Amino acid sequence: MHMPLIGAGTFRLQGQTAIDSVANALDLGYRHIDTAQIYGNEAEVGQALAASGVPRGEVFVTTKIWTEHLAADALIPSLKESLVKLRLEQLDLTLIHWPSPKAAVPVAESMAALLEARELGLTRAIGVSNFTIPLMQEAIDAVGAANIATNQVELHPYLQNRAVAAFARAHGIPLTAYMPLAYGKVLTDPVIGAIAARLDATPAQVTLAWLLAQGHTVIPSSTRRENLASNLAARALVLEVDDLAAIDGLDRGERLVSPDFGPHWD
Ligand SMILES: NC(=O)c1ccc[n+]([C@@H]2O[C@H](COP(=O)([O-])OP(=O)(O)OC[C@H]3O[C@@H](n4cnc5c(N)ncnc54)[C@H](OP(=O)(O)O)[C@@H]3O)[C@@H](O)[C@H]2O)c1
Repeated sequence: MHMPLIGAGTFRLQGQTAIDSVANALDLGYRHIDTAQIYGNEAEVGQALAASGVPRGEVFVTTKIWTEHLAADALIPSLKESLVKLRLEQLDLTLIHWPSPKAAVPVAESMAALLEARELGLTRAIGVSNFTIPLMQEAIDAVGAANIATNQVELHPYLQNRAVAAFARAHGIPLTAYMPLAYGKVLTDPVIGAIAARLDATPAQVTLAWLLAQGHTVIPSSTRRENLASNLAARALVLEVDDLAAIDGLDRGERLVSPDFGPHWD
């Protein structure tokens, strides 16, 4: 199956909160769940998936390889551990979560290991996350753009990441917008609020519709069933050109996720 354009994120969700969020998401109709080795909730995601009764072929599951597992001899064993926790035979998508700190492991080495994982049937697709333009170029040089299913990056009205988006588009690599609501920060924005009020929508729906209009996949997270439901309904919201342009105007390069081991951003 293709990656559904709206997925449910699970960063920060632990224990029963993670189980409940994924269970609610699947019950409401989400068919795309985003987790990661470092989130410490793959087992809870797996439990909720198993209990949901949703056939395996109907839900798209992504995990991300942590930086300590990027070397050729570590990546596949770590992915196998993720599969056990998730109670799955195969991931739909496996990403390099962050480029290797200080380039300790070459991009080409990790991409080759991911490709091997795909050939072994451990994952249906492979990709990257938090990759800058030079790092995307390295990944393309290693395995070819056609083998890179996505670059998952921080992307919301306050951080529009235009250079990365243009480069990815030029190479046919779709972007997945993480933290699409800027962890709630954009929801009190007056421009977004005014559009939402006029369209009888929520600020979250307007923000997600703006990202979807650019062809990006979005993976908002929520611990609340009503928010999960209304976020999914953003699929039906189509914004007019003027409203899209007004949100385009909100970019202020405000990056919320920038750990000290991260890359030099574009
Ligand atoms: N690749 C990476 O390095 C990376 C980094 C960060 C995140 N991610 C992925 O991206 C996903 C999304 O990012 P995120 O969870 O950090 O931030 P987010 O989705 O931008 O925002 C989540 C916050 O917004 C609130 N919220 C969600 N829907 C809402 C609504 N309709 N109305 C009001 N508030 C709403 C949630 O609160 P409630 O729970 O109260 O609804 C939560 O506090 C993560 O879960 C993770 O899967 C990836």
